[in-house]
Amino acid sequence: MPLEQPAETYTISDPDAQRIYTEARRAAQWVPFFLPRLRPGMALLDCGCGVGSITLDLAAIVAPGRVVGLDLDEGQLVTARAEAARRGLTNITFQQGNVYALPFADGEFDAVLAHTLLIHLRDPLAALQAIWRVLKPGGVAAIADDDNGAVVYSPDDPTMRRVGDLLTTVMRHNGANLTYARHLRGLLLQAGFARSEGFAVAADYSGNLAATRRRADVLTRVLREPAVAGLVVQQGWAAQGELDEMVAYLLAWGERPDAFFAIMYCAALGWKE
Ligand SMILES: C[S@@+](CC[C@H](N)C(=O)[O-])C[C@H]1O[C@@H](n2cnc3c(N)ncnc32)[C@H](O)[C@@H]1O
Repeated sequence: MPLEQPAETYTISDPDAQRIYTEARRAAQWVPFFLPRLRPGMALLDCGCGVGSITLDLAAIVAPGRVVGLDLDEGQLVTARAEAARRGLTNITFQQGNVYALPFADGEFDAVLAHTLLIHLRDPLAALQAIWRVLKPGGVAAIADDDNGAVVYSPDDPTMRRVGDLLTTVMRHNGANLTYARHLRGLLLQAGFARSEGFAVAADYSGNLAATRRRADVLTRVLREPAVAGLVVQQGWAAQGELDEMVAYLLAWGERPDAFFAIMYCAALGWKE
């Protein structure tokens, strides 16, 4: 871990917000660029796997290959293990760990995924170098993150803009790197990968009542989370009254028949040769 920098704080610290935010993710929609590279029998690592919604889909594809889901947060891994058992997957394990210091030997995996992990890190390059180390020669890394420059929503209301600005400020303070993803091809090369290929993914959108309600639920949980609200008020970024107004706005936005939200993800594959 790069000791010269303060550790990051993962902003979505409310476990329900994190689960609601990520549990609907499916590999076919969220990492379609990765799937043609996977074969049965491959050893695969998913760094920052969260509740494992994508990892478990990948485990079914590479079975009987060994799959490891790794995350800093043991609480989410409990959910991931229960879902693996429910799906009857026996080729997957989940373990607590840090992407900066992967607890694996050099060249242990054929493929490594980091999906919406590096955006939360102060040093994405160090994470990519760690991933490169555990890949076999010829192995492939798949990285994808949202890019804050590609967020759109309707209606284009000043309160929604203010929510976006505030959450951006909080995430930057917590160590996030919100526009790094467009640079992924170059970063992979810098980390030692022999070549890279870039992709765009538009799976993260809310365009019907269930989805806009879910997004409003996640955003309001984040704004109400004591660690976030406390930081915002303490830093003077907003008063508690304004936070309350934002929560009320978001809940009403989530009920609108015309509400829409989308964010593009930038992704890349990197090959180790
Ligand atoms: C947005 S979630 C993504 C979860 C999953 N990859 C997905 O796309 O559904 C980011 C995850 O990264 C984990 N995380 C944050 N920093 C980490 C680190 N340094 N090493 C490993 N995991 C980390 C968080 O605990 C969280 O579960």
